[in-house]
Amino acid sequence: MSAGGSVVIRGGEVVDATGVHRADVLVGAGIVQVVEESLGVPPGALVLDAGGCLVAPALVDLHTHLREPGAEQAETIESGSRAAALGGYSAVVAMPNTTPAIDCASVVRDVRALAHGALVDVAVAAAITVGRAGERLVPFAELAELGVRLFTDDGAGVQDAGLLRRALEYAGDLGVVLAEHCEDASLAKGGLMHEGAWSSRLGVPGQPALAEEVMLSRDLALVRLTGTPMHFLHLSTAGSIRLLAEARAEGLPVTAEVTPHHLSLTDAELSSFDAVFKVNPPLRSEGDVAALRRACADGLIDAIATDHAPHPREAKEAPLEDAPPGMLGLETALSVAWGALVESGLISAARLFSLFTVQPARIAGLGAHGGPIAAGRPAQLCVFDPAERVLVEPERSASRSANTPFGGRWLTGKVRHTLVHGEPVVIDGKAQR
Ligand code: DOR
Repeated sequence: MSAGGSVVIRGGEVVDATGVHRADVLVGAGIVQVVEESLGVPPGALVLDAGGCLVAPALVDLHTHLREPGAEQAETIESGSRAAALGGYSAVVAMPNTTPAIDCASVVRDVRALAHGALVDVAVAAAITVGRAGERLVPFAELAELGVRLFTDDGAGVQDAGLLRRALEYAGDLGVVLAEHCEDASLAKGGLMHEGAWSSRLGVPGQPALAEEVMLSRDLALVRLTGTPMHFLHLSTAGSIRLLAEARAEGLPVTAEVTPHHLSLTDAELSSFDAVFKVNPPLRSEGDVAALRRACADGLIDAIATDHAPHPREAKEAPLEDAPPGMLGLETALSVAWGALVESGLISAARLFSLFTVQPARIAGLGAHGGPIAAGRPAQLCVFDPAERVLVEPERSASRSANTPFGGRWLTGKVRHTLVHGEPVVIDGKAQR
């Protein structure tokens, strides 16, 4: 990522974990040079208008499916990184459920090579088990040595408790973090949506909340046994939030994320039988959505992560039982979460941005991202207009896929500019390369 010339971001309110204040920001040589109330413009500097906007650290996504290698018809690192930049991100963690899976040093190196020149930084997560088959552990020491920090079989949970225990013991010794997709396969089997009133009414086989909660409670017991930190991906039920609250009260070293779609959509969407709403974990009940929102306000949830999961149009147009689970997220995440949490009065803008920036950056070990916005820090910045209304048009997505559940809906808030290592990769809502 190259650092360009000087840039002045003028007229906005700077918001980061330290609070909100009126300031201009001068960026040069890839880093924040000055943050001051009213800055002059150095000769030759590019001026970016931030009038009416929040100037925040650029976002960090803990959970992005970039589909390379193996499913380039759905997404590439290049197209996914463009979607990320447009969504205000400076870094994403690429999930390892690719073909082949990211489960050994050579695939990690290949993906990193493909990510050279991407619009945002791409950190690579590796699988916990070889081929994500749940049978043999990956070479943790070798991968940790290469700098891999997060390990996950995402797309599936690790079903074998003994194997996960051993993985936690290795992870503890190496200082890396396991991230679990909590889904007990025997309980979830055959479920196409959340099991509840809507699945009964529609006659669609459901996946019970318990499929998530059983694995979460097993994993919490293993964290207690081993003392090794663990991260929980896309928690989606009120029961999971209760388990997380107990674990926190006990002092277990755990972190957790929720997705924008689980904060904003319910299982009622499946009454359309449209597979664009099929996702794992499934969209849940209104009570679950309310519990997730409250958990963001209470500080139980550490991060909002997209689970950006592109799928080709033909695949998503198949009947519900045949279509793959997953939805796009990178371009809409901030506006959707803004609507669910800030517009609704539940949390402040500063709190929302910490869920998208400093906290996920800490979990992923990405110290050059996530703020704060202060002289000497790497210039990863997101300029967000909280007043602009945007119509989501799936065909205009930067992603190679169009499976957004928000197509045709109006969202509040739009990313105006994104800077990655000082380079304006998005200006006035347009990707620059
Ligand atoms: O709905 C989902 N889709 N959930 C996952 O955990 C994986 C993802 C995918 O890769 O498509």
